[in-house]
Amino acid sequence: MCGIIGYIGNNTAPKILTESLKKLEYRGYDSTGIALLDNNSRLVIVKASGTVNNFKKKLDLNKLTGKIGIGHTRWATHGEPNNINAHPHTDCNNKISIVHNGIIENHQEIRHSLEKSGHKFLSQTDSECISHLIEEYLNNNDDIEKAIRHTANTIQGANVVVIIHKEHPNKLFCFKVGSAGGLIIGNGNNEMFVSSDIPAIIPYTSTVTYLSTNEIAIISSEKVEYKNLEGISITKKTNTIEINRDSISKGEFKHYMLKEIHDQPQAITDTIGSRVSFTDNKIKFEKFPFTNQEIKEFSKIILIGMGTSLHACMVAKNWFESITRIPTEVDNSSEFRYRDIILNEKSLIISISQSGETADTIAAMEKFKSSNSKQITLSNSPKSQTSQIADYTIDIRAGLEIGVASTKTFMCSLTTLYLLSLFLGEKRNSLEKTKITAQLSELAKLPRIISNMLDNQNQYKIIAKKYYPYSNFLYLGRGLNYPLAMEGALKLKEISYIHAEGYPAGEMKHGPIALIDQNMPVVVLIPKDKMLDKMLINLNEVKARNGTIIAITTENTNYIENLANDIIFIPKTSDELIPIIMSIPMQLISYHIALNKKCNIDMPRNLAKSVTVE
Ligand code: AGP
Repeated sequence: MCGIIGYIGNNTAPKILTESLKKLEYRGYDSTGIALLDNNSRLVIVKASGTVNNFKKKLDLNKLTGKIGIGHTRWATHGEPNNINAHPHTDCNNKISIVHNGIIENHQEIRHSLEKSGHKFLSQTDSECISHLIEEYLNNNDDIEKAIRHTANTIQGANVVVIIHKEHPNKLFCFKVGSAGGLIIGNGNNEMFVSSDIPAIIPYTSTVTYLSTNEIAIISSEKVEYKNLEGISITKKTNTIEINRDSISKGEFKHYMLKEIHDQPQAITDTIGSRVSFTDNKIKFEKFPFTNQEIKEFSKIILIGMGTSLHACMVAKNWFESITRIPTEVDNSSEFRYRDIILNEKSLIISISQSGETADTIAAMEKFKSSNSKQITLSNSPKSQTSQIADYTIDIRAGLEIGVASTKTFMCSLTTLYLLSLFLGEKRNSLEKTKITAQLSELAKLPRIISNMLDNQNQYKIIAKKYYPYSNFLYLGRGLNYPLAMEGALKLKEISYIHAEGYPAGEMKHGPIALIDQNMPVVVLIPKDKMLDKMLINLNEVKARNGTIIAITTENTNYIENLANDIIFIPKTSDELIPIIMSIPMQLISYHIALNKKCNIDMPRNLAKSVTVE
């Protein structure tokens, strides 16, 4: 959840750290801070609650010096998001400074024992234990590496830490235990960078190494030494990252979210990309690890994810069932990880995590690794932690997504899942060849359809202006559009702070109908598909209770026109693919309402882009 940065080299650390933190801010924006070993060999710490911009106001960058430092943007877990709880934290003698991402499960025990030995804690955080623990170990033994390894072995839970020490001004130290988000080491020209994620590093270098769990890195400006937690040296592979530097800027758009919504025609083209050969209507997944026989023998699919990724799973359940004829279930990773589910070698777990860092999804994948079931993961960051657990990773190819609200990663996850269901269906002969051809030709039209939808946002602006003062919304859908109703409600609540619920339309009269009156806009997802007649019944029920209806439909029918207060039209495509284009109105209604409410769209309160804690 938090963003971590470290720098060592010949350039000015404060400037690099501050600029890099801005690029990691999507991971948490409760507070910001940096620690430097300055040109007068002092340990200097500057921190502030709130965003990086707020922090910058507090800081005179020109007055700060130093060629080594660490920085942090926080998503608070222990202790309020105030200045004292902001990272970096120090020891009692102001020699050590640390930044941390994760949760130290035994922090109370450690704190209690350190306090008994005389350590004075300043903050309410679990993180502060780390600097005091290192100090304590150094009191008994002056080997800093040993002290850090000892600390890594003492703290429990999933944690990533970067450390500087006043008496070791030419070294940055870091370690990772468990899966508390990534730690990437960037190899520059006589300078090194450490970061939670690629965007902070990419302006400086594209040569990177990923720190794995139970590893420590000792970094100087010329080299990095990797060791395991027993102190034995290890060799690690260096990777070259390919990332479009333009994708990091907002370009002409007011918000990353809007830019990313507009990226979707290209993103979906990239997702389909070389996976589909339209000449012979074949789908290919490079180096797919399971044999045709294994695919034929799959007896159960379980789709897992959280938030928007879970909604993608819910849509895909329908596709996998009807296309592959394999019984398919969906679960929220945080529930799935504690289930006593029966799995075997014929079970296929498909996890979705655009970040590849979601703690619950990682834990669920790890837990069922021993069940012999097969695992596929979908990620927008194919070298991420989820890919290290799964048997096979599918890159959803959405391009970097900075806005906290997932948009293009949802659309690309859906597209990838659809392709995967067709691919498995073809191998199992559960689908006629003509059906695959027809679906692929519909899929090929999506980038153009979506691009046309984005060209005219007037209908969304009008609706947003009219409805933004309302405090509650209900979203209703059926079949493939029920998860889209959930996604629409999630998008609205997370960026506009309006209370919204998504329901399967048939469920409405079992309770939610009690809420309906003229103050409760009901967004009804009613494309002209096989559920139309059923949805019309629900529309009438809302109308009969004086409800205010915003209908989203593919075609105008007199019925809908007579019943709805407002209508949004979306283009036609095959019934199966409607959820992919239905995501556009779900995104744009929320975006324009949040814009009217002047909300902080890219960094909504209390949220972070990657949820690396349970
Ligand atoms: C939705 O807009 C959010 N960004 C959130 O629900 C997100 O989908 C969820 O936290 C899962 O993230 P992941 O795909 O990176 O695992």
